[in-house]
Amino acid sequence: MSTTSTPQSLNQRIYQYISTESKRMNFEPKEKDKDLNFRLMEGMDPLIQLYQNIYHTHPKADQTFEKLIETLIDFAQKREPELKKRDAAKKQNWFLSNELAGMSLYVDRFCENLKNLKSKLGYFDELGVNFLHLMPLFESPAGESDGGYAVSNFRKVDAKFGSLKDLIALRKAMQKQDMYLMLDIVLNHTSHRHEWAEKAKAGDPEFQDYFYMYDNRWIPNEFDASMPEIFPESSPGNFTYVPECDKWVMTVFHNYQWDLNYMNPAVLVAMVENVLFYANLGVDLLRIDAPAFIWKQNGTSSQNLPQAHELLRLIKQCVTIASPGMALLGEAIVAPKEIIKYFGTGDYTAKECDFAYNATHMALQWDMLATGDTRVMLAAQQDILQKPFGTSWITYTRCHDDIGLGYEDSKIIQVGKDPYQHRKFLKDYFSGNYPGSPSKGALFSSNPKTGDARISGSLASLCGLEKSLEEGDELGIRLSIQKILMMQAHSFFIGGLPMIFYGDEIGYTNDYSFLNDPGKSYDNRWMHRPMIDWVKNDRAHESGTIEEQIFSGTRKLLGIRKSLPVISDWKNLTWLSPHNIHVAGFLRAFGDKKVYGIFNFGSETAYLTWYAFKEHGKTPEKLKDHWTGNEFEVGMDNEYLIIEPYGFHILEVQKG
Ligand code: GLC
Repeated sequence: MSTTSTPQSLNQRIYQYISTESKRMNFEPKEKDKDLNFRLMEGMDPLIQLYQNIYHTHPKADQTFEKLIETLIDFAQKREPELKKRDAAKKQNWFLSNELAGMSLYVDRFCENLKNLKSKLGYFDELGVNFLHLMPLFESPAGESDGGYAVSNFRKVDAKFGSLKDLIALRKAMQKQDMYLMLDIVLNHTSHRHEWAEKAKAGDPEFQDYFYMYDNRWIPNEFDASMPEIFPESSPGNFTYVPECDKWVMTVFHNYQWDLNYMNPAVLVAMVENVLFYANLGVDLLRIDAPAFIWKQNGTSSQNLPQAHELLRLIKQCVTIASPGMALLGEAIVAPKEIIKYFGTGDYTAKECDFAYNATHMALQWDMLATGDTRVMLAAQQDILQKPFGTSWITYTRCHDDIGLGYEDSKIIQVGKDPYQHRKFLKDYFSGNYPGSPSKGALFSSNPKTGDARISGSLASLCGLEKSLEEGDELGIRLSIQKILMMQAHSFFIGGLPMIFYGDEIGYTNDYSFLNDPGKSYDNRWMHRPMIDWVKNDRAHESGTIEEQIFSGTRKLLGIRKSLPVISDWKNLTWLSPHNIHVAGFLRAFGDKKVYGIFNFGSETAYLTWYAFKEHGKTPEKLKDHWTGNEFEVGMDNEYLIIEPYGFHILEVQKG
């Protein structure tokens, strides 16, 4: 693929290559590989185009492309017949379904290892969870692991969790119960103990080219001038000195996480091999960690660059060819306008990542909870609603990471608030520094240079449960439980695949034991990553306990979600006009089915005029609340739906 070849002659060469390669690999004549052949032919044009856009000037572009095609054919052929059957059985856009509900968990902190997890599948079934995101499982050095996001071997399950065999056994058991599996690929970086990094340290130029390595600080200084810092407190700057080879290497996250250099096509191919290795383990949804960072360019923020999108599109094409049943989630926790681009734009609309995190709305939920005011949330919906049909959100209230208040200043200004003061209030409120705040969280990654900070803390602690328990405040406990369930309900019904963070279904408050572990104490995100105590979880079966109230409330919500197909993510979310600024109301409609979600984020009883239900199509007459079981007649415009503090209703139109 030299720079002088025209796209046409290039295509010809590639097709020729495929057919000779196919013959060599003996697949062309076989009936069973017809589908692969078809997918290869269908995907080849975009694949070539995308690859060429990125690598056309690279001296090894041609031979590396051939290696890429070989990799796709090889992994596709190695795919187990069982998985191929599952690929074929998955309906297009299977992942939009209201019947899916997920949980994200650390295997070791949840139940020690993969074998034990297999015996816990009944727990998920009881709760109504049929989709598991297992936090990073692959080998990662203890004490320098970033919760597994610093991988030293992409193909070896870390011994603390068990083995690859255990993982496959778990996946098979899950699939038998109609469950789905999500794992991570840490695409942006490796551990400094990965074989490639070790070879680079030893002076091997081939592997030094796998990373951004420099002889001195000249270029690093230039990069640093325009790149923000991700962990300014624990890992300031974006480069780390490597004494073994006397060079500087780019480390955007922690100093032990070396950024991979995707300008080198060999890195792309090596990582596509890992992506397909995970696909062939039976992963249904692959979480691409930190995709916003995968392309760096001096003089820019090195985030969200067009080449990062091209690489993701290229990876999507590879996956579509080799393992069509696996969907992709781009973990882009960036500005709302940027997040939306990870679904693809232009000719590639809905052809990049199938999922992204609705990080904007997650943060806005917390904004509403603290302020009791829904206006900033509504102002910021414009970008979120641009998500293309056929793609979906991961919706959530908490995950293993911090909460970043990443929505735009302009949205805050639009409703007459000062962005600096507004964010300061939210940070003070959730870190418990605002007078009267019930929350017990902490600031994460405070950057004195920019004034930025994010928020750590578990769902329960941020909702006030920890403080209320300490103070023996019964009313506070009741309100916290109410807030927890309202926050979950809001994220379960808004559209997307809800992902519960483990422990939140039981109401785990912050765990401060991380402070005694030197491998974790520098990172307060560990406060909201609990060690599960199964005696506590068993209290979910004791009527009236806090654990039972939260567990059974969460289970009930998931049950309601599963009974309402209109909650599938069919791009069918409409916000109600804000007749009461404390109440967030939306309509989910499809065909003649209509469901309203009504949430009072205020600490006082709220009154919502029935007129709010008359602005979108035919006026409903009767509404059934799936949460309380009550039925409501839609009243006159000067009459009201009355919503208790932090109360909510999931109202299905019965008549009208
Ligand atoms: C992602 C992970 C986060 C990790 C970072 C670096 O954002 O969610 O936990 O620290 O990537 O890998």
